[in-house]
Amino acid sequence: MEMGGGGSNNLYLSYRSLVPGSILHDVEADLRVLGIGSGSGEADSIFLKKLLQSHSRVYSRVVEPCGERIEQFKALVREDPSFGGVKFDWCHQTAEEYFQNGESTKFHLLHAVHVLYFVEDLHATLRDMWEQLVEGGHMLIILEADKGTVWELREHFWKCFGHGDRLKTPIRTSGDVRQWLDAMGIRYVTSGVLPKSLR
Ligand SMILES: C[S@@+](CC[C@H](N)C(=O)[O-])C[C@H]1O[C@@H](n2cnc3c(N)ncnc32)[C@H](O)[C@@H]1O
Repeated sequence: MEMGGGGSNNLYLSYRSLVPGSILHDVEADLRVLGIGSGSGEADSIFLKKLLQSHSRVYSRVVEPCGERIEQFKALVREDPSFGGVKFDWCHQTAEEYFQNGESTKFHLLHAVHVLYFVEDLHATLRDMWEQLVEGGHMLIILEADKGTVWELREHFWKCFGHGDRLKTPIRTSGDVRQWLDAMGIRYVTSGVLPKSLR
């Protein structure tokens, strides 16, 4: 899990170090990657390029509800021959629709980059993601940190105007994910990539 603000190309490039260079799997089979809310592929493309350095066969399933963003991602892939070793599978769906299908494929890497603000039920989505991981697989979640200026402003806003369960709103942080992982007894590492402007 990584904590930090969203944004610039440099920030996306800094995400590269969050993906393991090599992931244990059957070398005769594809390395399977599931992107939740991949948007137009900025983060996915960085992860996939890193994985392609040590895995010749990569299968990338992209779950994204915005058709326009999928088309932008497809264009990015078409224009860059380095994605030749990747088989893409495009799912024009929300995470909720995708997981409701009861899909049984398991993945070596699952990621959700600045997406978990938008899902209806944070805990249900985390559970669904976890269940689609192979034994020993990796789950990478990037969300805004529960520290820094942005979070202080949001926390202040929530204290003044918020009511009900904050987790039912998009005001969610990496701390909420950590709490769920702790409650589930799942081991994790955190990493902070907070731009200076947001500290
Ligand atoms: C802030 S963008 C992040 C895109 C991409 N992961 C990135 O970092 O460049 C959030 C993405 O989540 C998608 N999204 C919104 N609601 C979603 C949902 N319920 N399930 C899956 N994706 C969703 C949006 O369409 C959008 O592409």
